Amino acid sequence: MILRTLQQVIPAMETSDGAGVKLRRSIGQTPQTRLDPFLMLDEFGTDNPQDYIAGFPSHPHRGFETVTYMLDGHMLHEDHLGNRGDLRGGDVQWMTAGRGIIHSEMPQQLEGRMRGFQLWLNLPAQEKMKPAGYRDIPAAAIPGATLPGGGSMKVIAGTLRLGDRDIAGPVQALSTEPVYLDVGLPAGGTFEQALPSGHNAFLYVYEGDAVVGAAAGARALPRRAAGVLSPGDSVRVAATGESVRFILLAAKPLREPVVQYGPFVMNTREEIEQAVRDYQAGRLTA
Ligand code: CO
Repeated sequence: MILRTLQQVIPAMETSDGAGVKLRRSIGQTPQTRLDPFLMLDEFGTDNPQDYIAGFPSHPHRGFETVTYMLDGHMLHEDHLGNRGDLRGGDVQWMTAGRGIIHSEMPQQLEGRMRGFQLWLNLPAQEKMKPAGYRDIPAAAIPGATLPGGGSMKVIAGTLRLGDRDIAGPVQALSTEPVYLDVGLPAGGTFEQALPSGHNAFLYVYEGDAVVGAAAGARALPRRAAGVLSPGDSVRVAATGESVRFILLAAKPLREPVVQYGPFVMNTREEIEQAVRDYQAGRLTA
């Protein structure tokens, strides 16, 4: 077993998007901080409704997937296909933009709070123009497990071996074979988990401060930072001081060129120009 170590720490940067929604961007804050096939990770969360009330009015996407995971509060969304949903605490929306989707995402607070993540996951060249697809995954459909050393884990995507059983998340069989976990550790708790060795992987700590790796290879990962992991086949995370909560993402790299222009992510500049023309002509989703 080769334990993955913390290779790079990307502190989240405060930014705003949509109609002025304040968020913290770690992965993808620059083209150099993408981690193939992960294009971007935003954490949104605030106690001040003015920070996000204007939401993300109608906007397009082409060429990748957006994965929204709500912790608190909720998110109303609607798209051109007629899908309409209300994502609540613990729910996930897995949206495949494919050749094109036009949707709105309007965060709402509940009892004064709103918190969640949006991840952008790239699609391989041969799937960028497939028809748009969409899945709302209620919290009840996301399996959880108690960890041997205390703490708990939810499996949103992929299948994880825990002791003598497999825990299969609701999202399976995508070409990048993503693993998406939400892990909570009590103070003093540790999490040790095998991950597919060919996958790129990172974690993002959203409560507490974690230590990644073991012995001489252990390194601190503060909250609100993405920690990119080195190659290897397992990961170890410890909560040394207070309790820790983090999400862990892993997926098979595509190793294809990435050309991004706002909400369009393609392989070439020509494909981006085509996306802009299609959107302007009202045939992005046609
Ligand atoms: Co969107």
